[in-house]
Amino acid sequence: MIFVTGGAGFIGANFMLDWLAQSSEPVLNLDKLTYAGNLQNLASLQGDARHVFVRGDIGDATLVAELLAKHRPRALVNFAAESHVDRSIHAPEDFIQTNIVGTFRLLESARLYWASLQGKDRDNFRFLHVSTDEVYGSLTPTAPAFTELHRYEPNSPYSASKAASDHLVRSYHHTYGLPVLTTNCSNNYGPYHFPEKLIPLMIVNALAGKPLPVYGDGQQVRDWLFVKDHCSAIRCVLQSGRLGEVYNVGGNSEKANLDVVHTVCTLLDELRPRSDGQSYRTQISFVKDRPGHDRRYAIDARKLSQELGWSPAQTFESGMRQTVRWYLDNPEWVQQVQSGAYRDWVQKQYA
Ligand code: NAD
Ligand code: DAU
Repeated sequence: MIFVTGGAGFIGANFMLDWLAQSSEPVLNLDKLTYAGNLQNLASLQGDARHVFVRGDIGDATLVAELLAKHRPRALVNFAAESHVDRSIHAPEDFIQTNIVGTFRLLESARLYWASLQGKDRDNFRFLHVSTDEVYGSLTPTAPAFTELHRYEPNSPYSASKAASDHLVRSYHHTYGLPVLTTNCSNNYGPYHFPEKLIPLMIVNALAGKPLPVYGDGQQVRDWLFVKDHCSAIRCVLQSGRLGEVYNVGGNSEKANLDVVHTVCTLLDELRPRSDGQSYRTQISFVKDRPGHDRRYAIDARKLSQELGWSPAQTFESGMRQTVRWYLDNPEWVQQVQSGAYRDWVQKQYA
């Protein structure tokens, strides 16, 4: 089996669902179920013996060691993290604990487990660390996109904590020979995206008749990738990536935030027109900028495409249409997430 951490979050859940749709290999899913972890995302796996869920912290070395010894996974894919930049600005502590200390403890547990393996099991073991393009900092409007050789210049507590985790992963390969792989991906969007992030927030606010808060002038640029394309890239790197290497993952789809919000409004105007006949664009409201806001990210994913043959299946247009449709088709999910009903359930279930 493979061992996934953070499999109840946005990307982890999409990865779990895609993995089990395509493979008979079971997945052990360790997730702390923070506010961002939601087992509703995995409801379709209920009763599926190939999904083994354990609620716990990647920083709990005793638990992780027990799980590794019991399930003897051939690979570990680390999605678990605190992931929201704005939260890291308000309260950085959890980011340090999970993203840095947690990743360190996970690496240490993986190293001890790997050292206990022999022969093919040892040769084939992989530790894949899922990271972000934000570690590279901010680009000027005309600078070339980030390659894997770009220097690290993280600007927020979130990106600094992810940068630290990337360095730890690198060091475990260099020092101990742990067979690691790292992926640095651009902004994802798609189903199960928690509505604190730009795209899902705009969809749910628009439908609720609330303002659409655009930070600053809305001209910050992100490189958007449909989440299932990120998942396919991770599967590709896990299968064929060269040990110790870093692979950038991106959609070659740079958009200014305001254009992204306009796209959401245009799709909603078509698929769920407002009863007063006005466009959802009238709800756009420019608000105070994010402190230290990175101006532009762009990923050069040529290494991944040339070495491993990966390319995204969705364009921004097709992925956004699927995404907006998914939110329109899943109002109960949105309602649950917003009301915190799933948090009450977690309390009851895991009290
Ligand atoms: P998310 O916040 O939606 O999910 C994170 C998951 O990790 C949640 O299920 C949460 O409960 C779990 N978790 C948090 N702390 C934990 C801990 N200490 N132990 C165990 N589980 C814990 O995040 P996401 O957007 O799905 O991102 C997943 C990974 O991908 C992160 O490492 C993030 O840095 C990276 N990434 C995200 C994006 C993006 O656009 N969302 C892009 C590139 C990279
Ligand atoms: O680049 C990859 C990163 O993308 C991931 O590592 C992070 O985990 C993920 O959260 C995301 O970070 P961003 O800060 O780019 O995503 P977010 O959705 O929070 O914001 C996208 C852009 O939209 C950013 O420039 C800030 C802006 N924004 C965001 C929100 C929530 C707004 O203008 N208004 C908003 O209300």
